[in-house]
Amino acid sequence: MVVGVLGAGTMGAGIAQVAAQNGSEVVLVDLNQDMLTKAENNLDKVLARLVEKGSISEDEKINIQGRITYSTDVHDFKSSKIVIEAIIEKLEVKHNVFANLETIVSQDCILASNTSSLSIASIGSVLKNSSRVIGIHFFNPAPLMPLVEIIPAVQTSQETLDFSKELIRSWKKVGVICKDTPGFIVNRVARPYYGEALKIYEEGLADFATIDWAMTKIGGFRMGPFTLMDYIGNDVNYAVTESVFASFYFDPRFKPSLTQKRLLEANFLGKKAGRGFYDYREGSTNIEPKKNEELARYIVNRILCMLINEACDATYLGIASAKDIDLAMTKGVNYPKGLLKWADEIGLKNVLDTLNTLYEDYQEDRYRACLLLKQMVKHNKTFHQ
Ligand SMILES: NC(=O)c1ccc[n+]([C@@H]2O[C@H](COP(=O)([O-])OP(=O)(O)OC[C@H]3O[C@@H](n4cnc5c(N)ncnc54)[C@H](O)[C@@H]3O)[C@@H](O)[C@H]2O)c1
Repeated sequence: MVVGVLGAGTMGAGIAQVAAQNGSEVVLVDLNQDMLTKAENNLDKVLARLVEKGSISEDEKINIQGRITYSTDVHDFKSSKIVIEAIIEKLEVKHNVFANLETIVSQDCILASNTSSLSIASIGSVLKNSSRVIGIHFFNPAPLMPLVEIIPAVQTSQETLDFSKELIRSWKKVGVICKDTPGFIVNRVARPYYGEALKIYEEGLADFATIDWAMTKIGGFRMGPFTLMDYIGNDVNYAVTESVFASFYFDPRFKPSLTQKRLLEANFLGKKAGRGFYDYREGSTNIEPKKNEELARYIVNRILCMLINEACDATYLGIASAKDIDLAMTKGVNYPKGLLKWADEIGLKNVLDTLNTLYEDYQEDRYRACLLLKQMVKHNKTFHQ
């Protein structure tokens, strides 16, 4: 079976590697020959490292490399069973590309998009046979991150969904099915990790270093929110927040932060720019966290309860099952525990009390508790038995 991958950037090159490592023949197409050369050279280095570590043999390296054909011509997708698009995140461009792809591929070829923020229904709207469209959303770096969100649109057929699920399973990834809604699971549920941390900072309750220390040392998260925003890039992270906020008709729960906006306006984009919330330039010093455990516990509880509320809401609205939402947050963004499992452990009543106190204090809709959470507390239920 031949898998087509369109776009040989960060994601496309990673997806091609995953496919080839799991035995699929891959055609990787990019308009830009330099990107193809870069992808081919990078793969050579990555596989050489795997040989060095003894994870694969030299023969396997050669076989994996032999399974990928690099091309600048989309007509080479002619015999693909599925094409996964991973090009620039612009709807008009994706529309043109999908309409053109349909004139090249076979009748039963599935057309998937790796988009992080666009609607799959809209991407598929340009197709004559839109039942073949689906979202297949990998996480960066694709070869290392186990999670893949699989997003059927309203037009998607059961066959398209079944094939995609089986493909992702055969590539040894953890597939979760989610509704075609802004941010899918991870980029929606994770918003308060950044947004609430920024609000706590803006209110002067704690500085970046203290919030990061609280979330890692007391909360057990792998990276604090400000370090993570610097790592993702403030431009990228802000753009996702803004897009989710607008797509949810400006629900205050997703409101972007002016602090982060000013940073990106100043080109303080994070690690890649040498400056972000922190200063990464040589010889620079950054402030030390204030290791006050009581304050840290307040910070962790507030951010965690906001995350849990988002996970509850996604469950309530049928975006995905409770099990898949927990899987998504642990396998897609390395949370130390599934949020709903965490909620069960600390007690749903405690989560609700925290949210109600915040709501009372701020009188902001941002802190409204999810109806499902209220009902579960009322009926003394838990998410996982
Ligand atoms: N970077 C991430 O962390 C991440 C994670 C998940 C999903 N995504 C999504 O994946 C997609 C790609 O993101 P990326 O970070 O890999 O981008 P990128 O900029 O690294 O790569 C995009 C590639 O597409 C090529 N390209 C652009 N237009 C093209 C066209 N019409 N035909 C063929 N090739 C074309 C470019 O030459 C470039 O090589 C986007 O939709 C993005 O939202 C990105």
